[in-house]
Amino acid sequence: MLSIRDVHKRFGGVHALRGATLDIRRGEILGLIGPNGCGKTTLINMITGQFPLSSGTILLEGQALSGLPPYRIARTGIARTYQIPRPFAHMTVLRNVALCAQFGGTDTAGSARFEEEARYWLSFCGLSARAGNVPAELNLRERKVLELARALAARPRVLLLDEVMSGLNPAEVDTAIRLVRRIRDQGTTIVFVEHLMRAVVQLSDRVAVMNEGAVLTVGDPQDVMRDPRVVAIYFGHRHVA
Ligand SMILES: Nc1ncnc2c1ncn2[C@@H]1O[C@H](COP(=O)(O)OP(=O)(O)OP(=O)(O)O)[C@@H](O)[C@H]1O
Ligand SMILES: [Mg+2]
Repeated sequence: MLSIRDVHKRFGGVHALRGATLDIRRGEILGLIGPNGCGKTTLINMITGQFPLSSGTILLEGQALSGLPPYRIARTGIARTYQIPRPFAHMTVLRNVALCAQFGGTDTAGSARFEEEARYWLSFCGLSARAGNVPAELNLRERKVLELARALAARPRVLLLDEVMSGLNPAEVDTAIRLVRRIRDQGTTIVFVEHLMRAVVQLSDRVAVMNEGAVLTVGDPQDVMRDPRVVAIYFGHRHVA
């Protein structure tokens, strides 16, 4: 569905992506892992057009996304969450989500319609009780869930999640895992960046491992975790033997 081909990204002297190549299949949950600073968030930023690529191509169903501005890429059906949540601080939770529904919807629908949609997504995510609050009144878990509800309100075909589970307690992680499965069951393709291995193994159909700006390997979660090159990245080369 989404094809990332030999993508490079330089930030001044930092060569953040060094020939990243990855194919994402329709309807799958793909876990994207790798050490801090290996380029996971940058890869998401390349897909959504947050920053221009230095070189390479990204195709959605064969159509080039690279070069399009972020709002055009969003309209192709790609939504994301941010590692650090970015709600509009002065708007209620409901308005925050309604705005995203409005962006993903048709121009002719009235604002009441978007609030109705927003209420649906808040309920889907278990955040209805907070509809009237402003983001500053939410705890970390609720801010992460709001981030997710905003992305869902745009009705994406591809959803990119950047560490939505970090900082959650075990019970909250279980709830989040169930939520991500329900999103996929609607037909949404999901790429999720995560350091929490339990969530990666439980959720992923396939796991892609990045290291130093490139995708080292992609495959079945159990196989990938046993790959000596992956073990070496996480535990150091001496442990491989
Ligand atoms: N906007 C930017 N300007 C300059 N350098 C950047 C920018 N974004 C990322 N980088 C650099 O690119 C490299 C990859 O960063 P990135 O945030 O993609 O890593 P990551 O895999 O998401 O790490 P983490 O697991 O810690 O979130 C790092 O060296 C980072 O400092
Ligand atoms: Mg990151």
